[in-house]
Amino acid sequence: MNLYERIPNNVNLSENKKLQRALEKWLPDYLNWWNEMGPEGFQQKDVYLRTAISVEPDGWAHFDYVKMPDYRWGIFLKPAQPDSKIGFGDNYGQPVYQEVPGEFRNSLRRIIVTQGDTEPASVEQQRQLGKTCPSLYDLRNLFQVNVEEGRHLWAMVYLLHGYFGRDGRDEADALLERRSGNPDKPRILEAFNQPCDDWLNFFCFTMFTDRDGKYQLSALAESGFEPLARTCQFMLTEEAHHMFVGDTGIGRVVKRTAQLMKQGDVRELGGIPLEIIQRYINFWYSYSLDLFGGEISSNSADFFAAGLKGRYKEQEQYEDHIAANQTFTTTVVEGGRLTTRDVPMRNALNEVLRNEYVKDCEKGLARWNKILAEEGLSDRLYLPSTRFHRHVGEYAGHFLSLQGELILPEEFEKQRDQWLPTLADREYVRSLMHPVTELGKTANWIAPPATGIKGKPFEFEYVRL
Ligand SMILES: [Fe+2]
Ligand SMILES: [Fe+2]
Repeated sequence: MNLYERIPNNVNLSENKKLQRALEKWLPDYLNWWNEMGPEGFQQKDVYLRTAISVEPDGWAHFDYVKMPDYRWGIFLKPAQPDSKIGFGDNYGQPVYQEVPGEFRNSLRRIIVTQGDTEPASVEQQRQLGKTCPSLYDLRNLFQVNVEEGRHLWAMVYLLHGYFGRDGRDEADALLERRSGNPDKPRILEAFNQPCDDWLNFFCFTMFTDRDGKYQLSALAESGFEPLARTCQFMLTEEAHHMFVGDTGIGRVVKRTAQLMKQGDVRELGGIPLEIIQRYINFWYSYSLDLFGGEISSNSADFFAAGLKGRYKEQEQYEDHIAANQTFTTTVVEGGRLTTRDVPMRNALNEVLRNEYVKDCEKGLARWNKILAEEGLSDRLYLPSTRFHRHVGEYAGHFLSLQGELILPEEFEKQRDQWLPTLADREYVRSLMHPVTELGKTANWIAPPATGIKGKPFEFEYVRL
């Protein structure tokens, strides 16, 4: 691994002068973007961060204090397997693509740009959160997520620069020009234009939206375009921590709320009522479901046929990697009612991937409900129907209840404030957001974590302020 080059990498960048020069030219633009749009107010602080020092699954990370702009942004791919074959689709069993096949060039570029765009977007969404951190431990976790999303942008930009020539370089520049939530130059996907301005939003985002990332990356980690597959395989090792932050973050809020519920009125005691937590879940879960794309999709069929985007755990979970003769039954809206339709399996792969994601989210809900049970409460949190509050796919433009039944628009409007965060909810949650930076202290609305980071106690000075 070439860790101490200007751009740390394990792709022998110094042997490809043209690419090296192109990326070295992109580096200052990236740093400008980071300084302008990265975490506000903490750029010169020492943060206890993990950094890549190897790409092997055991011990790839090194922990130490780093100032965020000096983070080891770089290009790390999982090592190549000799004689790799395309694992699915029409070219199943053929050697993997080392270069972009001409006929798939546009599709592949679009896949990489769409994934790449989410990485800086989330940093932009979260840039103000440091100022209201509930503890130093949480502050550090926020920054860990932020720098790794920044590195994920590097991963995608490497592919654009390395394999797509001029248009790739233009796309890499555009990735630094769009801005989350900006009406004139928004980020590509809607979930990444939503404000993430309080910590409950942040935990929901890392729980639900980063988890979409896990499934997209897993599907791309199967790709027959080998540089993409190896890039995504390494990104997945980083992504796991992001979801841990969200999952345990919500768990800690739930725990604190449960404790306060037993003492009296949660609001009066300065906690976040369970109904508000539920509405935030409904919001982020439904927006994150949209990220998988339409239930019935010719793109998903094309990407699979071409060997570009596979299924979750394609090799482990499936026997038929061609999937040309199977059908999938999905629920659609037709003539004002819900009905089922059989579609070719390849056209249903967005839905297949979404179902894997749903199963994973359900495990999170079970963990939070276990916390409620342990606190002796009978209240439970749940996931709404996958048809609820959708803006992409078969249910977009229709009104469906939390249980997924078609309802009239006026019925939806009547229930909206019960189902989705209201302005008052958001204002209330924001009113609780005051920074707590004393060693070993936590804000009143959240329980401390069960353990610290990398064997350090919770009281450790994770960020030197
Ligand atoms: Fe990421
Ligand atoms: Fe992430």
